[in-house]
Amino acid sequence: MRNVDRKPVLPILLLLLALITPARAGEPSPAPAGVFDFAARTVRLNSGHDMPVLGLGTWTLSNDQAETSVYAALKSGMRLIDTARYYQCEKGVGRGLRRAIADGIVTREEVFITSKVMPSDYDRALQGIHESLSDLGVDYVDLMLIHQPGWNDEAVYRALEQAVAEGTVRSIGISNYYTRAQLDEVLSYANIVPAVIQNENHLYYQNTDLQEYARQYGIVIEAWYPFGGRGHTAEHFGDPVIAAIAERHGKTPAQVILRWQLQSGVIAIPGSSNPAHIAENADIFDFELTEEEMARIHALDRQERYESW
Ligand SMILES: NC(=O)c1ccc[n+]([C@@H]2O[C@H](COP(=O)([O-])OP(=O)(O)OC[C@H]3O[C@@H](n4cnc5c(N)ncnc54)[C@H](OP(=O)(O)O)[C@@H]3O)[C@@H](O)[C@H]2O)c1
Repeated sequence: MRNVDRKPVLPILLLLLALITPARAGEPSPAPAGVFDFAARTVRLNSGHDMPVLGLGTWTLSNDQAETSVYAALKSGMRLIDTARYYQCEKGVGRGLRRAIADGIVTREEVFITSKVMPSDYDRALQGIHESLSDLGVDYVDLMLIHQPGWNDEAVYRALEQAVAEGTVRSIGISNYYTRAQLDEVLSYANIVPAVIQNENHLYYQNTDLQEYARQYGIVIEAWYPFGGRGHTAEHFGDPVIAAIAERHGKTPAQVILRWQLQSGVIAIPGSSNPAHIAENADIFDFELTEEEMARIHALDRQERYESW
């Protein structure tokens, strides 16, 4: 992509390419790239792979908690698991996955696993990726992200592209890149356009500007801290707008927030160590927010981020 004008031509070509990429054998044909298919509960990425739109986050979980939560998530119907080398729970994630496979709940191919290259591995990114695979006990991950901008992002991105070429990673993306300029920088050296940008994103920090910009490239935004993260959940769940909408639908505030994320075209990965919470979070496909409710939730945005990395 170096030297390519970033205005309309390339994104349109990429979207056309994604549109004509055939679905993998045995899978239902989903909506076009970047459009959420609520029946299949997936989105077609610009890489041609399908990604579940709702999953489990594993930050702060111990290996034992990750094992329990991953198993509970898969049992509840979730098919997306988000982890990272930095979280030090990839072994637990792998154990939960293997237990669910052994119990006949899922096959490996039905589960979408995301991990991330951590900053301390940025000068040995490919090795770091292989170590993630080893700890997870898998021979590929579905999505690998650069965890956050660093001093040698281009080299890390090359390693991600190399991993795609060698078949150990299926789609690649970036995390904690918040501005158009930061995305432009990545696009200036990317040979493979990122499929996903995973960022802090919640009621009070929606960053719709980046969403709109990224959409031109068929890039999907994924929300971390969908509930504001540990320490802010009470404020998010207790927001009067959310509480009123939840009561109207007979759903919980957590379910309304997740449903809003998905209807906004944003993938959500709520973190939890509690199987009852995980089952609740998975149960958001039997109701729909109205346009008026979506607008009221969008109006809560106050561009307030909790973290600065
Ligand atoms: N790329 C990055 O830099 C980055 C940074 C942060 C996070 N992430 C990813 O994003 C995921 C989500 O973020 P997060 O886990 O930090 O924060 P979060 O999902 O916003 O909130 C997690 C908190 O919500 C609670 N919770 C979950 N479901 C609930 C429910 N139904 N009812 C009541 N409470 C509920 C959890 O408690 P219980 O455990 O008791 O359920 C936990 O305290 C992470 O796990 C991680 O995978 C990525």
